[in-house]
Amino acid sequence: MVMRKSVRILLVGDRNVGKTSLILSLVSEEFNEDVPPKAEEITIPADVTPEQVPTHIVDFSAVEQSEDQLVDEIQRAHVVCVVYSVDDEDSLDHVTTHWLPLVRSSAQGSSLPVILVGNKVDLVDYSTIDMVMSIMEDYPEIESCVECSARTLKNISEMFYYAQKAVLHPTGPLYVLESQD
Ligand code: GTP
Ligand code: MG
Repeated sequence: MVMRKSVRILLVGDRNVGKTSLILSLVSEEFNEDVPPKAEEITIPADVTPEQVPTHIVDFSAVEQSEDQLVDEIQRAHVVCVVYSVDDEDSLDHVTTHWLPLVRSSAQGSSLPVILVGNKVDLVDYSTIDMVMSIMEDYPEIESCVECSARTLKNISEMFYYAQKAVLHPTGPLYVLESQD
């Protein structure tokens, strides 16, 4: 297994799903209504991460960045969080019609783990987990899924912990080995 000295987490997903808010809520431990389109790259020092590995968190903004830059960032990432909003059905549809195929094709055969993140659970009283389960059957690179809220901070640190864990203790390659014979 590859021992990593750092973890690079990239957040992608439709506009307005809350990518920037998730990053800034994690860092400041409070929700801010006014966020820029794209958060600056953030480095969390090893001693404050659960796995004791320095962790870079990278935002994506379709307003500020091109498709080529996106592919570039996907290739530099160790794990990609594909974010949708639980109150926006289109954003979940685009997970399978756009984001997961794009991440898979950009990764060019290297095993790039994915965390599926449903943000804004504070707005709804249902769960998207049934739909997510069926997506996970088609995309074994999805290591975990989590429903969270940048507003209430629910499951925010968990989301980043799952991302770290997917890089440092992946189960995905085991799945690939099992299905090869
Ligand atoms: P782009 O930069 O345009 O791609 O959007 P983004 O994915 O970075 O979303 P952003 O963080 O800018 O949030 C979009 C809107 O959703 C803002 O008005 C946020 O305040 C709001 N928002 C983000 N997270 C939550 C959440 O968990 N709950 C609620 N209710 N609103 C949220
Ligand atoms: Mg943004």
